[in-house]
Amino acid sequence: MLETNDINQYYGGSHTLRGTSITVPEGSCTCIMGRNGVGKTTLLRAIMGLVPLRSGSIRFGGLELAGKNVSERARAGIGYVPQGRDIFADLTVEENLQIGVLGRRSGGGGIPELVFRLFPVLKTMLRRRGGDLSGGQQQQLAIGRALALEPKCVILDEPTEGIQPSIVHELGDVIRKLYTEEKVSVLLVEQKLPFARRVAERFFLMDRGAVVAKGTMGELTDDLVTRHLTV
Ligand SMILES: Nc1ncnc2c1ncn2[C@@H]1O[C@H](COP(=O)(O)OP(=O)(O)O)[C@@H](O)[C@H]1O
Ligand SMILES: [Mg+2]
Repeated sequence: MLETNDINQYYGGSHTLRGTSITVPEGSCTCIMGRNGVGKTTLLRAIMGLVPLRSGSIRFGGLELAGKNVSERARAGIGYVPQGRDIFADLTVEENLQIGVLGRRSGGGGIPELVFRLFPVLKTMLRRRGGDLSGGQQQQLAIGRALALEPKCVILDEPTEGIQPSIVHELGDVIRKLYTEEKVSVLLVEQKLPFARRVAERFFLMDRGAVVAKGTMGELTDDLVTRHLTV
């Protein structure tokens, strides 16, 4: 279980996360929703230790993460796929995946077979430059790199952004497989409502840095959508 408890974060004088508490139960998919600029990415960055907290705690499997650096959090078993993917364009697919392997707690070893089981296309492209892949393939590579760490939980920030619909559907299937069959918990940030409804089990809805609603996907009512999601 991953949880943030009453966390507060500022960019300069701007109070971006306001007492934000979320939980991601083991083996589930939890979706953070909310309009642009409400603090979804900042919440994920806070979990990874990429932005400092003013107060509050972040726990993962009983371990307090506050005070731990980014690579310690990754080694604790959290894989992170940032918004915009962020793969290494000049490295090959294989080299990108090996970077994930290097972050692993156990160190060494090869690229886990799970990566190619979920994304067979990557196996056929090992020598290709990351930058030469399509947007959808780059997203698969970015997720593959996070999985090469053999995480217990993977964090995905708007993975469907800028990806063609057929690949978006496939990605949804992969995410479902991850938490149902592979028992990797998923913390997803997603603005596409149909995708979120199809893929996630639970949601936290954010507005201006605070959680304003939470529940199972079935409890995400039209009223909540109108008030906090549609523009
Ligand atoms: N590095 C930064 N420095 C200052 N303000 C930032 C920074 N990154 C994001 N912000 C601001 O913090 C707020 C939340 O941003 P973000 O977490 O990216 O929102 P979301 O992911 O929900 O779109 C926005 O008002 C954004 O402009
Ligand atoms: Mg964002």
